Amino acid sequence: MIKTVTQILSVPLILTSLVLPVTAAELAAGKEKAGMCATCHGIDGIAKAPNAPNLAGTNAFYITEQLKAFRSGARQHQQMSIIASGLSDEDIADLAAWYSAIKVTATMPAVE
Ligand code: HEC
Repeated sequence: MIKTVTQILSVPLILTSLVLPVTAAELAAGKEKAGMCATCHGIDGIAKAPNAPNLAGTNAFYITEQLKAFRSGARQHQQMSIIASGLSDEDIADLAAWYSAIKVTATMPAVE
C-alpha cells in the first residue's frame, strides 16, 4: 500500500523525539573511539581522505543507521564494512554522539 505523505514525514519526527540526551561520558568515549576513524574522517569529523565523507554535525540517527548497515552487510564498502564489523552497539552510540555533537557552519559561495 502506498504511504501517505503525512505517514512518511511523521517517521523522522518520531525518531527525533526518541533521541536521548548525550552524556559527557558518551562524548568522552566517542572522542577516544573516533581515534580509529580519524585518518579518514578526521577527529573533528572533517574528512581527511578524499573518498571519505565529513561526519561533523551529521545526525546521530543517520550515523547509527549507516554503521549498523555496514556491520550487517546491508551497506557494503571495502574499508567501512571491515571497520564496522568490529563495533559494538555501545561503540556506535558513542561515535554517533561524538560526531553529531560537533558544530559546523556553512558558508555558501557567492553567486549572483
Ligand atoms: C580507511 C578509511 C576509513 C576509516 C578508518 C573509517 N572510515 Fe568511515 N568511511 C570511509 C569511506 C571511504 C566511506 C564512504 C563509503 C562509501 O563510499 O560507501 C565511509 C563512510 C562512513 C559513514 C557513512 C557516511 C555517509 O554519509 O553515508 C559513516 C557513518 C562512517 N564512515 C563512520 C566511520 C566511523 C565511526 C569510523 C571509525 C570507527 C570510520 N568511519 C572509519 C572511510 C573510512
